[in-house]
Amino acid sequence: MEVSTRILKIDPANVDLELVREAAKVIKDGGTVAFPTETVYGLGASTYDPNAVRKVYEAKRRPMDNPLIVHIASLDQLYEVAAKVPPEAEVLARRFWPGPLTLLLYRSGSVPSEVTAGRDTVAVRMPAHPVALAFIRESGVPIAAPSANLAGRPSPTTAEHVIRDLYGRVDVIIDSGETLYGVESTIVDLTRDPPVLLRPGAMPLEKVEEVLGKMVDVPPFARGLGMADVALAPGMRYRHYAPYKQLTVVEGNYSDLKAYAAKVVEVVLGAARSGSRPVLLCSSETRPYYESMGIRTIELGPRSNIFVVARNLFKSLRLVDELVDVNEAFSEGFDEVGLGLAVMNRLRKASGFRVVRV
Ligand code: TXA
Ligand code: MG
Repeated sequence: MEVSTRILKIDPANVDLELVREAAKVIKDGGTVAFPTETVYGLGASTYDPNAVRKVYEAKRRPMDNPLIVHIASLDQLYEVAAKVPPEAEVLARRFWPGPLTLLLYRSGSVPSEVTAGRDTVAVRMPAHPVALAFIRESGVPIAAPSANLAGRPSPTTAEHVIRDLYGRVDVIIDSGETLYGVESTIVDLTRDPPVLLRPGAMPLEKVEEVLGKMVDVPPFARGLGMADVALAPGMRYRHYAPYKQLTVVEGNYSDLKAYAAKVVEVVLGAARSGSRPVLLCSSETRPYYESMGIRTIELGPRSNIFVVARNLFKSLRLVDELVDVNEAFSEGFDEVGLGLAVMNRLRKASGFRVVRV
């Protein structure tokens, strides 16, 4: 598969509608467009064009049994793609859209089975990004889109990441700079009662629960503890977000950071002594200590601002692969609160569940 790829630079602070229309034209003609959202870049096709949707799976080398999220730009489009919109969905949509929350609902007959991988449900969200919204609006159809990375790779937070994975495999790549959150949307299954968290993401679960007025069920796989039940979460059983090099997550008690960091040092230096050339992904708070012990580090961000850690996560995982004199990575763990739940889910999955507790 060899496609000639066009790159369109669109400034999110001053959206050039002419360029957006060029991208929209490609969608109308059955093509594929990588576009920015507030979470990560997506690779879109017309939801209503099964052939175009198939191109998305092919470009990503994504298994056909892993369904796509439908991106909408108006509430009308929600009623178009969902068969039933329960009151809970209305409440969440009105409160959090546009924003990084994806709702799983029963699908309407207008959504082809290629999008939902033959399921009777559809995942829907309205992204909070001026370029994404203009692009969906100008396309005139909801846009079916997974993240714009090769299957299994860390999700792209810049157009350069998309180019690295998909250049020559998609028709257009829109470049609007770095995304805001850097982790994907939170996915909540509203076809079940209580609702089920299918994937923690950029929208903190605590906020969703507060607006719902009830608890959401959090299965172990949503925390990155083991593989998912296929029936519930088709995408959560594949190796994911992973660098090519081996990653190990070192988890412990972060309330005594000094004692924790000392144990992390033992693990990493132990690996170095047995001939490995490791790098350690860590928080700003502990980094100086590791560096003073001669450990090479990549700074994720402060524990006191987990938003920054989430934002830096995927590009740091990609950086691990680029460091030529490094052959293995370790990462600190973080508290599973707010965005920390998404961070730990991604880290554990990226490691292929290689977790050590210290
Ligand atoms: O932030 C995001 O959600 C980004 C941006 C581009 O919007 N998109 C994204 O898409 O992360 P993707 O394909 O990488 O992840 C979507 C997840 C997959 O794990 C998929 O299995 C799940 O959503 N999903 C989609 N439709 C589903 C369905 N009908 N039932 C269960 N899971 C579904
Ligand atoms: Mg993805």
